[in-house]
Parts: sequence; C-alpha cells; structure tokens
Amino acid sequence: MDYTFLKACRGEKISHTPVWIMRQAGRYLKQYQKIRKKVDFLTLCKTPELAAEVTIQPIDALGVDAAILFSDILIPVEAMGMKLEFFEKKGPVLNPPIRNEASIKKLAVPNPEEDMNFVLETIKILRRELNGKVPLIGFSGAPLTMATYMIEGGTSKNFLQTKRMIFQTPDLYASLMDKVAQTVIEYLRSQIKAGAQAVQLFDTWAGIFSPADYKNFVLPYVKKIINALKDWQKTEKIKYVPIIYFVGECSGLLEEIKTCGADVIGIDWRINMDDAIKRLGSNFSVQGNLDPCALFLPKEKIKERVKEILNRASSARGHIFNLGHGVLPETPVENVVAMVEMVHRLSRK
Ligand code: CP3
Repeated sequence: MDYTFLKACRGEKISHTPVWIMRQAGRYLKQYQKIRKKVDFLTLCKTPELAAEVTIQPIDALGVDAAILFSDILIPVEAMGMKLEFFEKKGPVLNPPIRNEASIKKLAVPNPEEDMNFVLETIKILRRELNGKVPLIGFSGAPLTMATYMIEGGTSKNFLQTKRMIFQTPDLYASLMDKVAQTVIEYLRSQIKAGAQAVQLFDTWAGIFSPADYKNFVLPYVKKIINALKDWQKTEKIKYVPIIYFVGECSGLLEEIKTCGADVIGIDWRINMDDAIKRLGSNFSVQGNLDPCALFLPKEKIKERVKEILNRASSARGHIFNLGHGVLPETPVENVVAMVEMVHRLSRK
C-alpha cells in the first residue's frame, strides 16, 4: 500500500495533489467541541482513545489525505519537568519560565516510552483504526519554537526574553537548545517506532529572526535532529519516514532553510509558491500555502485561490496542499470541505 501523500513527500508521480490541514482536529469541528465539553485540552491529549478519536474526526468529515496525531508541541516540555497549563483565550502557560542555568540543569531529557507513553499508545491505536485508509503524521515542535514557550513562559509578541538570552548569554541558550534538541530526537524516534509514517517539525516562531541569526541560533539544531533521524533510520533499516519542516514567516529565510535536509518544506502564505520553489531548488517537495483566512471567502473565490496555488506549485518536485498555518476556530467547516474537494478535482491528472 502506498499513499498519495507519501509519494508527494518523496517527489514521485501522483494522480492528484494530496491535502491535509494544519490543526485539522480542533474547535472549528462540532464533533471536537462535543468531546472538549467533557474533558480539558491536556486530558484530551493524554487519553489515547480520545486523542485517537479526534485525530480521525477530520478524516471522516473533510476527506483529507493524511491524519496528524492529536497532541501539542508542549507535551514534551512538560515531560522535561516544566509545569504546563492551558487557559481559555490565553493559551499555554509554563511557570516558572526558564531564565537561568539552575533551571536548565533541572530539565530532563525524557524517555518517551516512560514519560509520554500516552502519545505512543495514541499512535498505535490510530494505525489500527485508520487501517491503511490514510497515513499518519507524527510531529514535534522544533527546538527554537519550543524554547520560546519555555523562556517566555507562554505565548509572546516580541520574544524579548528569548532574544535577550540568545544575545546576552549565548552559552546558556545553547545548553537549553542542546537539551531540547535531544528531547525532540528521542521523541520523534519513538513516534516512528510506534508507527508514525511521516513526521513534521513545527517551527512556528523561527521567522522572528534575521537570516544570520536564524542560521546561527536556530538552524543548527534543526539540522542535528534531521541528520540524527536520517542516520538512525538508515542503521535500523526501517522504511524511510519523510521529514517535513514548517517555518512560520519563512520567506526571508529560504536560502538558509534549503540546507536543512528535510524532504518537504512547509511554506506560509506570505510568499508565492513559485518564488519559494525557485529559491529552494529542486531537492524538496513543498507544502502549503493558502492563507487560513481565505477560507472565509465565498466558495468561488476560494476556488480561484486553490487553482492559483496548484499552478504556482506545479514546478515543484512534489506538492502537498495545506494552509500556510493552522485552521482558525471560527472557520466555516463547509468551506474546508469544499476546499479539499477542489484540490482533489482541480489537480486530477
Ligand atoms: O494539527 C493538528 O491537528 C494536530 C494537533 C496540534 C495542536 N497543536 C492541537 C491544539 C498541533 C500539531 C499543535 C501544534 C502547536 N501547538 C503549535 C505549532 C503549530 C502552530 O499552529 O503554530 C503551537 C505553537 C502550539 C502551542 C499551542 N497549543 C497554543 C499557542 C495553543 C493555544 C492557541 C489556541 O488556539 O487556543 C494551543 C492549544 C491547542 N493545540 C488547541 C488545539 C486543538 C486548542 C485547544 C482547545 O481545544 O482549546
């Protein structure tokens, strides 16, 4: 059994462009809200049967070509030893934040089989329940994006504390990033062993840097993870699991990003796909890049935009249609369904 999605990741010939949506399991779906009324978000992430159920909801409701594990990028941060809470409207809070050597020393590199076994259980249930219908994507936050939450203590506007640590105490920052990167390597290996068929690294906040700072302070850790996963897959002789790297606001960084070694590069909507492809070269497949707010347009206009992205992406080695970032909670579901159907119909060869 081979899947359109995995073929597109590898740049092989396909009959239509596959599509999935970042944050495809979530509040815009009534089925999701129904479950969330009964349990809080972290409990949902930590209850494998429920996490598997909400992972599958968008497969049935939307007809997308891949499932993504339902979890959160901050789950491993909690396993490293930080206190994690989610608040309505405010988002995640990690308290106390990481600001000095002593707090970094206290952080563990968790053993996923012991400390995050619920994630691996969710993956095993999903592989059974999906039963070959669509492939399952595992994921992790990339180190910088995870570290911003750890250093800021939550969501941030200017990322002042993070940049202050980088610029004033670079050795401290490096010691934190080494631990986070090692955590990500162990975490993604365990997800692949449990059955993830592709993995995505979410680097949502990497776009806050100049190209030089991105190259010095962000990219080395991403490369380390990708190289470690590739080497490990070679020695274990497992069927190759493609790696997707997504950077929010990537357009100033593509010349650096193209050295990362991933199979697929996720592109946000602030750049045209053909420009991104030209700058990345032919070694990658691309993923993206409809503005999530475009799903609030009338269907005819959505269709024009879908068509345009498919056209602009036609020069890529492979294209996986997606939004340029996560789907918003207010999004009309019928427009998401229509978009998925348009991608399939308009791209059919
Ligand atoms: O893509 C998927 O469907 C898989 C599930 C997933 C979630 N979060 C579920 C979630 C994934 C891949 C993530 C990644 C994630 N989490 C990122 C990187 C990707 C991105 O979208 O930028 C980040 C930065 C986080 C951290 C996080 N989690 C924030 C800032 C928030 C609050 C934002 C909000 O919309 O409330 C979350 C909560 C969260 N993660 C929700 C979901 C479905 C909403 C929780 C709820 O049900 O109330």
